[in-house]
Amino acid sequence: MPFFLRPMRLEDIAQVSLVERECFSAGWVPTPFKRDLRRDTMFFLVACEARTPANADTEARAFSTVRQPGDPPPVLERLVRGIKGLAGDHPPPPDFSQRIAGFLGLWYIVDDAHVTVVGVRETARRNGIGELLLLGGIEASLRRGMRALTLEVRASNLGAQALYTKYGFRQAGVRKGYYTDNHEDALIMTTADITDPAYHSRFIRLRDSHAARWGRSARYLG
Ligand SMILES: CC(C)(COP(=O)(O)OP(=O)(O)OC[C@H]1O[C@@H](n2cnc3c(N)ncnc32)[C@H](O)[C@@H]1OP(=O)(O)O)[C@@H](O)C(=O)NCCC(=O)NCCS
Repeated sequence: MPFFLRPMRLEDIAQVSLVERECFSAGWVPTPFKRDLRRDTMFFLVACEARTPANADTEARAFSTVRQPGDPPPVLERLVRGIKGLAGDHPPPPDFSQRIAGFLGLWYIVDDAHVTVVGVRETARRNGIGELLLLGGIEASLRRGMRALTLEVRASNLGAQALYTKYGFRQAGVRKGYYTDNHEDALIMTTADITDPAYHSRFIRLRDSHAARWGRSARYLG
């Protein structure tokens, strides 16, 4: 699969805002990315097209905020960036010209990760990218010590509901007339305890079958 996940950065805002506008109708309130990216309780992932599948890992690693063994410290990395021969095996500098196909937002509230937004470019849908983003979102939530994921979805959005149901989300309630454009109801969907061994086994099965179907995809979660 020529896609990989990495954390969203400020430099991605223009592209992600376009994807968000394409995904949601007139009643949607645009995400204030500039503010939210600075919040410790918010986390955004983007799915990028790798130039070639073989490069996906290196391209994703360039954005990783997790230091790899042998990586120079960030200040030094900045100094040597672009000086040929000094970079050695270190990841290349991030390339913000990558095309972003989709994104997902999380808001960590105590031990519950609220999925604030998920969207995939129209032309890229039904290629496993929404599922890849959800896989990454669940992994990021586990790392952050969350026990469940929760979200709201339009009652009429059966495609998105099918995706969430596949990952163990169940309807937990309804917000009557939640959407201001057409007063449509929102279904509140939530997972079981994601730290539970039963959920973990299900997650591993889904992750493996996604990789078998779409190919292994690098996931850098920051
Ligand atoms: C919902 C959305 C993110 C799904 O992304 P995607 O990349 O097309 O989804 P995937 O290809 O990864 O599909 C994964 C699963 O989702 C479900 N699914 C996705 N789109 C579907 C559709 N149109 N109809 C039925 N099921 C669908 C299926 O269960 C699918 O699994 P399968 O391939 O085994 O059947 C995408 O349609 C989108 O961006 N929609 C507009 C924005 C939106 O509605 N966001 C959700 C707000 S709550």
